[in-house]
Amino acid sequence: MSEVSEVFTPRNIIVTGGAGFIGSNFVHWVVDHHPETHVTVLDALTYAGNLDNLAGIPSDRMDFVKGDICDAELLDEIVPGHDAIVHYAAESHNDNSIADPEPFVRTNVVGTFRLLEAVRKYGIRYHHISTDEVYGDLALDDPAKFTEETPYHPSSPYSSTKASSDLLVRAWTRTYGLRTTISNCSNNYGPYQHVEKFIPRQITNILTGVRPKLYGAGLNVRDWIHTEDHSSAVWTILTKGRIGETYLIGANGERNNIDVLRMILRLMGQPEDAFDHVKDRPGHDRRYAIDATKLRTELGWEPVHTDFESGLKATIDWYANNPQWWEKTKAATEERYKRQGQ
Ligand code: NAD
Ligand code: DAU
Repeated sequence: MSEVSEVFTPRNIIVTGGAGFIGSNFVHWVVDHHPETHVTVLDALTYAGNLDNLAGIPSDRMDFVKGDICDAELLDEIVPGHDAIVHYAAESHNDNSIADPEPFVRTNVVGTFRLLEAVRKYGIRYHHISTDEVYGDLALDDPAKFTEETPYHPSSPYSSTKASSDLLVRAWTRTYGLRTTISNCSNNYGPYQHVEKFIPRQITNILTGVRPKLYGAGLNVRDWIHTEDHSSAVWTILTKGRIGETYLIGANGERNNIDVLRMILRLMGQPEDAFDHVKDRPGHDRRYAIDATKLRTELGWEPVHTDFESGLKATIDWYANNPQWWEKTKAATEERYKRQGQ
C-alpha cells in the first residue's frame, strides 16, 4: 500500500532538461503560477536544448546550470539545498534512437541512475517524466487504452531506454525508500517543439515551400495533449501525488497522422493532398491511447486545451511568427532525414 502524501510545497526545485520543449514549458508554468518556488535548470544544451526557450524569466526566479545529468560531481555541487528534482532531460526522438541508440542509453538510463543516486544521498523528492511509449502499442481497432496496470512492452531504442529508467525509479523507491512519483504522458504539441518532431516538421516544411512528409500510410494514431496541460499535470502529481505511484497523463486527443497532416495543410491554406508519403519508421508503433482516470479522479486534474484544432492553429501561428527560433536548426534536421530516406 502506497504512502498517502500530504500536499508537498516545493520551494527550490531542479528541473533537468529545462531548456528543451516540455521542460521549458514547465519552468515557465511554475514561474507564472507559483511565486513561492525557485527553479534551477540543469541542462546540457544538446542539439535539442535552447536558452531562448527560457527568455523573459526574471533572474531572481531561476538559475541556469549548463551541465550533464551523468556528471555525479556536478550533482554533488548543485543538489544540496534543493527540495525536489523534476527530471525531464532525455534524448527524446525515436528516429534518432533508431539511427544511433548509444546517447539514449547514456542519457536516459545512466543519467537517471546518477540522479537517483543523488536523490538517495541528499534525501529529496523526485518526479520522473516518462512516456506512454513504455507500454508499446495498441492495435488500430482495439478499443483498449493504456492504464497504470498495462505491462511494459517498449518497441524502439528510445522507448526501451525510457522504460529502463522507469524501472530504475521503481527499484530505488522500493529498495532505498526514495520519495518518488512517475508520470507517463502521451504526445505533446505546442510552441518551442524541435522541428524534428511530426507537427513542427510539417508546419516548417510548408513555411519553407517543402512538401510535408508522412511515414507509410499515415494511419498510426497518437494521443495529442497540449504541453501546458502536461505541465499542470506534472505540478499536480509533484505536489499532491502519492509517493511510489505512477500516473498516466493524457487528454483524450487520439487522431491518426494523416488527419493531423490534412488539418495542418487546410489551416495553412494548402490543398489537403499536398504531401509526400515517405519510408515508414522501422518498428513504427501503431497506436497510443491514454486512460487518465486515476489522475483525474484521485488528484482532480483536468486539461484546459481541449480544442485540438484551435491549439494547432495557435501552434502554426507561433512557428509562422518566430522563424528566427527554428530556421537555424531546420536545414540540419532535414539533412538528417534525407540521409534516412525520410
Ligand atoms: P527535448 O528533446 O525537446 O528536450 C530534451 C532536453 O534535455 C534538452 O534541453 C537537452 O539539452 C536536455 N538534455 C539531453 N541530454 C542531457 C543530458 N545528458 N544532461 C542534461 N540535459 C540533457 O525533449 P522533450 O520533447 O521536451 O521531452 C522532455 C521529456 O519528456 C523527456 O523525458 C521525454 O521522454 C518526455 N516526454 C516527451 C513527450 C513528447 O511528446 N515530446 C511525451 C511524453 C514524455
Ligand atoms: O508518445 C509520447 C512520445 O511522443 C514521446 O515519448 C517522444 O519523446 C515524442 O517524440 C513522441 O514520439 P513519436 O514518435 O510519437 O513522435 P514524432 O513526432 O516523432 O512522430 C509522431 C508520429 O508522426 C509518428 O507516428 C511518426 C509520424 N511522423 C513523424 C515525422 C517526424 C511522420 O509521419 N512524418 C514525420 O516526418
